[in-house]
Amino acid sequence: MFDSLVDQPPDSLLGLIKAYQDDKRTKKLDLGVGVYRDDAGLTPVMSAVKSAERILLESQRTKAYLGPEGDILFVSALQPLLFGARATGITGLQTPGGSGALRLGTELVALAQPGAQVWVGVPTWPNHAAILEAVGAKVRPYRYFDTATQTVLFDEMMGALSQAARGDVVLLHGCCHNPTGADLDADQWSETAGLIAERGLFPFIDLAYQGLGRSLDEDASGMRLVLAAVDEALVAYSCDKNFGLYRDRVGALFAFSRDTTKSAAIDSNMARLARVSWSMPPDHGAALVRTILESSVLRLAWHEELVRMCARITDVRRTVAGLEPQLKFLANQRGLFANLALTPRQISTLRLDHGIYMAPSGRVNLAGMRAADGDTLVAALAHVGAFKESNAELS
Ligand SMILES: Cc1ncc(COP(=O)(O)O)c(C=O)c1O
Repeated sequence: MFDSLVDQPPDSLLGLIKAYQDDKRTKKLDLGVGVYRDDAGLTPVMSAVKSAERILLESQRTKAYLGPEGDILFVSALQPLLFGARATGITGLQTPGGSGALRLGTELVALAQPGAQVWVGVPTWPNHAAILEAVGAKVRPYRYFDTATQTVLFDEMMGALSQAARGDVVLLHGCCHNPTGADLDADQWSETAGLIAERGLFPFIDLAYQGLGRSLDEDASGMRLVLAAVDEALVAYSCDKNFGLYRDRVGALFAFSRDTTKSAAIDSNMARLARVSWSMPPDHGAALVRTILESSVLRLAWHEELVRMCARITDVRRTVAGLEPQLKFLANQRGLFANLALTPRQISTLRLDHGIYMAPSGRVNLAGMRAADGDTLVAALAHVGAFKESNAELS
């Protein structure tokens, strides 16, 4: 049976974590792995999560199965956070993280429309294409971002989507674009929503960092604009970053259909697909999120901590941007990541000579460093020749 299996390349980011841990230098920076860190370099359990864990420990009476939909109250508690208080036509179910939601959403698309084409801006989170292809969807890449000039190639994106056929799927990052940090602005979201509606395309929005870019509402605003313009959509959601629950695997898949007579069919098909893959999602993390969102005290504590995390990321961005004119673009981008225009050789010198670890693509996680490390980073980038000789500023 196993003779036909060939070795798969190791995940480059996981290898980086190990190399960083084995690095004996005291002055080193891990900008590789995509998790939020505080000023002490830790990824702490949020205080509202700790409180919710204590409540659950005391109050949970059973761990009997819930069902393929997971915790329905968790799903309904999330809905206003994503879609606003008055949204209608939304159904959803709990998934193992945002990855599970992306997988289930792609399976639903493949079931409804076998051989579906999915338009994906490049670069993107590497798991996007991998998940889409694993389910048999046809990936149609288009250029989204130019790393050398740090600009969103909006005209190219519109040009590509103008070629898409009716019913084609468009995968969009809701906020905090991974790996570039470069989101669409409000006008671009409106134009995108208009084009999607006009051409009868199907939006599939990945919202994995709500609250870590600007604010909960602002980070959902692009997605809401698209939903207001179309009749149907899917939204893959992750609570793993904004609740700091990474390994607990907390997410949800939401479907929007203006025609609410379709809700039962959508619901039952999503539940059926979940049943034949993971059967039921892990409960603990979702129960924590529900406990937090249902309590005004915990909800406030969670939100305040999220706002502080977001402010810390913005501070790191602004500080580094202020140290080097050619890094000014960092202040205009959002979320954890930026994609620096570096050669493989520069990336390797940064690691070997300066103890600065980043993804082989040049993606850096700015939430992995302190603002006070800005000088070290900028000096190292200058040392490897990352900045142009001219005073050309990238803005
Ligand atoms: C853009 C994007 N979507 C989805 C995910 C999936 O997150 P989760 O850990 O909840 O599966 C990630 C995680 O890194 C991501 O960056």
